[in-house]
Amino acid sequence: MCGIVGYIGDKKAAPILIKGLEKLEYRGYDSAGIAVIENNEIVTLKDKGRVKNLLKIDGMESLNSGIGIAHTRWATHGKPSAINSHPHSDKDKCFAVVHNGIIENYKELKEKLKNEGYTFISETDTEVIPNLINYYYLKEKKEDSKALLRAIRNACMDLMGSFAIEVISKEKPNEMIVIRKDSPLIIGKGENENYIASDIPAILPYTRNIYFLDNYEFAYIYKDRVDFYNKNLEPIKKETKEIKWDSSDAEKDGFPHFMLKEIYEQPRAVRETIGTTLDNDKIEIEGLELEREYLKTINKIYIVACGTAMYAGLTARKTIEHLCNIPVEVEVASEFRYNNPLIDEKTLAIYISQSGETADTIAALKLAKSKGAKTIAVANVIGSSITREADYSVYTHAGPEIAVASTKAYTSQITMLTIMAMHFAEILGTSSKNEIEELKKCLLSMPEKIEETLKVAERIKEFAKKIYNEKDVFFLGRGIDYPVCLEGSLKLKEITYIHSEGYASGELKHGPIALIDNGITVVSVITDKDLVEKSLSNVQEVITRGAKILLITNQNIEKKGFEELIKIPETNKFLSPILAIIPLQLLSYNIAVEKKLDVDKPRNLAKSVTVE
Ligand code: F6R
Repeated sequence: MCGIVGYIGDKKAAPILIKGLEKLEYRGYDSAGIAVIENNEIVTLKDKGRVKNLLKIDGMESLNSGIGIAHTRWATHGKPSAINSHPHSDKDKCFAVVHNGIIENYKELKEKLKNEGYTFISETDTEVIPNLINYYYLKEKKEDSKALLRAIRNACMDLMGSFAIEVISKEKPNEMIVIRKDSPLIIGKGENENYIASDIPAILPYTRNIYFLDNYEFAYIYKDRVDFYNKNLEPIKKETKEIKWDSSDAEKDGFPHFMLKEIYEQPRAVRETIGTTLDNDKIEIEGLELEREYLKTINKIYIVACGTAMYAGLTARKTIEHLCNIPVEVEVASEFRYNNPLIDEKTLAIYISQSGETADTIAALKLAKSKGAKTIAVANVIGSSITREADYSVYTHAGPEIAVASTKAYTSQITMLTIMAMHFAEILGTSSKNEIEELKKCLLSMPEKIEETLKVAERIKEFAKKIYNEKDVFFLGRGIDYPVCLEGSLKLKEITYIHSEGYASGELKHGPIALIDNGITVVSVITDKDLVEKSLSNVQEVITRGAKILLITNQNIEKKGFEELIKIPETNKFLSPILAIIPLQLLSYNIAVEKKLDVDKPRNLAKSVTVE
């Protein structure tokens, strides 16, 4: 789980590579490095630590080369260190390689190469790649124009696992070859220059015309053209896709952190996700053309995802079951894969992923497909791997999400899944016209209601100052508020490192209430008017045991007895999670700031989890 960048053109490569890596630090940030070709020799500069440390390495400023590859690492094999940092070279220093992914059979390959006289200096799985390329290249006739390409292809065919790889060689100082399998890689086409990256934000300042590589597609990149080949090295044609994201979308725009910027971008993210879906008489979702005859055969829907995306799925379950009358199961992708799920052609399987690159979610999708289910991907990144595997792909339009902690992607996912539930219900006739109309009206007013909710920011900041030293925080909710509490609790854990649990309010007395002690903070979310009394009596149970309560509600509840009461706007019950999560996002954000933590890049986490 790392970020890779490449450049080939007339400009100096090094500054472009470093700028690109900075944009990809959300993918990993324990070490970084670049390799360029200067005077027909590979020059590699790398070290452990953040990308900005690269600027301090001797010789960085004097690099003039117009070709280079770069990497920001999130360690999987071998601790963060200069030696284990990428780029890696072969024993003859002829090739330099950066790699994102995991080579599962690297030990076996290492042994094989050692028996052939190859030596290794790092603990990484990646180092086998340049050495394998060297091994195969020595078998080629150098004058053959495809010798390097063939050597790389042969090396890649030996690799098991996932990889996005960039290769440069002093044998071909003006050319670069890249390939991917199950790890993301894109190529940005410029004027007399080309850019390569794991993700769009790294190259957005330079171009919006992007080639997306499929598994086992090789790109032979020159400064003025890109040739594509399939697994058998037959030439293939590929077209660029235009990315509409604004380059300022990937900048902080005056906010101190990406997370805060992204929290404030939610009105726009939700508005753009709604887009034109509700404009006509009938709901229309681009990319999703499911016939009534087919939908009528469905007897179960699976929603599969990881982390925050899975919590969006838990909310969607309630909406889909209510509107469509179809049972929905929600499962974490890493469990689903190995649970032998009961799936057949009557199952519809929906996969939610912001990045579209989460390895477990992609594998879970492939599994359902192989068992005959139709699959839908709900992704935020256009052209991402999951969208190329799914039968249907629909997009949230949250724009690039850079902070590791997901915020605007989550609210956009709930938005899109609600629209999807309404769409299915409309086709199936399982919900009344009035109910759909009322939901439409509420959805269309969501951006304004989010704006209104964001006004609680100052009060949340003050509350955060009171509790930032807490060791444990509990989140309690019932019904539609329960998944919001799980997501609120996840946000708190991941960016503030405070231990926290989300519970269904009614479940508390079956064990966890033993943890409630004098002075402990409990966040209670109450938005379902039919459950107010029951939820309040659960809150009373913890108040009696000494808890301090932060209450988030859209109901008229008296403040008496609560440490703080945050009122949010009322809306349709199924949409209230979009508003209720906002104070919780702000709470975690402000606690992390108060604790002077790295809000956008919390420890041990990476934005896209492209390994199992
Ligand atoms: C938490 C968070 C993660 C992701 C999860 C899935 O803030 O961001 O829990 O939601 O890793 O990622 P995607 O949606 O990219 O598949």
